[in-house]
Amino acid sequence: MISIGGGGAGGFELATSTAENRSRFVLSILNFIRQYSLDGIDIDWEFPSWNKNLSRRVERVNFVYLFKDIREQFNQIEVMLGKSLVLSTAVAAQLTIIRMCYQPKEIGKICDVYQSNVI
Ligand SMILES: *[C@@H]1O[C@H](CO)[C@@H](O)[C@H](O)[C@H]1NC(C)=O
Ligand SMILES: *[C@@H]1O[C@H](CO)[C@@H](O)[C@H](O)[C@H]1NC(C)=O
Repeated sequence: MISIGGGGAGGFELATSTAENRSRFVLSILNFIRQYSLDGIDIDWEFPSWNKNLSRRVERVNFVYLFKDIREQFNQIEVMLGKSLVLSTAVAAQLTIIRMCYQPKEIGKICDVYQSNVI
């Protein structure tokens, strides 16, 4: 697997802002997975909607849309690849960040690996 993001990594906001941009982002993920015969992807966006005004809280919704889009594509190419692909995410455990940045139930439904110490 490969992990995308990490502390200080930018780009997620624009890459997830529209269906079209997400689609391009997801396509590049799929190409990368195929090129290097990976078993999946880990998304480490620190953090969607973090310290943003209310209008920017849409990032946390786009975060979920990103997982939905990836999962949809994974479902399609898993048959072709003959294996299951893993979709995971690294998230913060602090309650303040969880409340502002995540929709834990939604993420938990879509990701294979999801862990947070405090919910
Ligand atoms: C979509 O992504 C491009 C970069 O590839 C960026 O310039 C553009 O601002 C993004 N669109 C939105 C609405 O964020
Ligand atoms: C939030 O909005 C206020 C005024 O509307 C602005 O001064 C401030 O810079 C904004 N904060 C962020 C994080 O965008």
